Amino acid sequence: MSRMKEIAALSEKGTVSLTELEHALQQLLAEVTETPGFEAGLILETVLGVSRTDILLGKTVCLDDQQREKLGDLLKGRRQRRPLQYLLGSWEFYGRPFIVGEGVLIPRPDTEILAEQVLDGVRDVPNPRILELCGGSGCLAVTIALERPDAEVWCVEKSPEAFSYLTKNNQELGAGVHALLGDALDTGCVEGTFDCILSNPPYLSDADMKELEPELSYEPAMALYGESDGLYFYRELTARWAERIRPGGLLAYEIGMGQHPQVAAMMRAAGLDAICQTRDYGGIIRVLTARTR
Ligand SMILES: C[S@@+](CC[C@H](N)C(=O)[O-])C[C@H]1O[C@@H](n2cnc3c(N)ncnc32)[C@H](O)[C@@H]1O
Repeated sequence: MSRMKEIAALSEKGTVSLTELEHALQQLLAEVTETPGFEAGLILETVLGVSRTDILLGKTVCLDDQQREKLGDLLKGRRQRRPLQYLLGSWEFYGRPFIVGEGVLIPRPDTEILAEQVLDGVRDVPNPRILELCGGSGCLAVTIALERPDAEVWCVEKSPEAFSYLTKNNQELGAGVHALLGDALDTGCVEGTFDCILSNPPYLSDADMKELEPELSYEPAMALYGESDGLYFYRELTARWAERIRPGGLLAYEIGMGQHPQVAAMMRAAGLDAICQTRDYGGIIRVLTARTR
């Protein structure tokens, strides 16, 4: 019997132990992911509404038709290498759930480092005015607004699909971000100066785009591609927006692996200094910050 049929049979036989179900799911998912245990657990928690403890204790459950269908759809989707995050429809960032789906970049754990650096960088500024360029799901702008309720946070996103997720997340989480559908290269899209401008722009190069994992091909190219050398947005955003940062204010970027020397040079050329780099959980320099004089 194929593994898929095995799972169908298991889920149809009345009550089934979560341990048995998790084991069968793990075996199937091992064909498409390096973290089958993590994914199997998340799928069971989401579809059946059980807890990690229920699974560990091997509690028994009785699946209804809707749950069986949802489980089947999720497994089918994963076997097509659709990202788990899109299939679940929600993904956690900085401890909060963000609605995601095809058309918007999935929030990454490494991006939390950018949120932390921004929060740290404006810690002593009362009522900071903050602008995020290239906002995607809104994970950064929404997080920053919720962590700093006294801040005025603006966020610009060009893709209408991504913008719809940004506005949904902003509303659902009650963040009060001023969300703008517009081009981050157009400095006329928002007025005034800021205590911090941040961005996690598209930063993959031609070479990177050729080596995408199958799951990444489901994410919007517009969220990934930073032109041939991957540095297009850093070049343009730094040159255009540096003058809109208040004296002593912060420019903060998430960057791709190995991009720090070039991006730091762009920051210096725009008159910023106090350049600071922060590594991600894999030891790669992931965030660059700099201050205006
Ligand atoms: C790497 S994603 C980052 C999304 C989100 N900030 C995050 O960290 O998950 C880059 C985002 O920039 C958007 N984008 C691309 N070009 C843009 C432009 N010219 N102006 C504004 N947004 C743009 C993409 O649609 C995408 O949502």
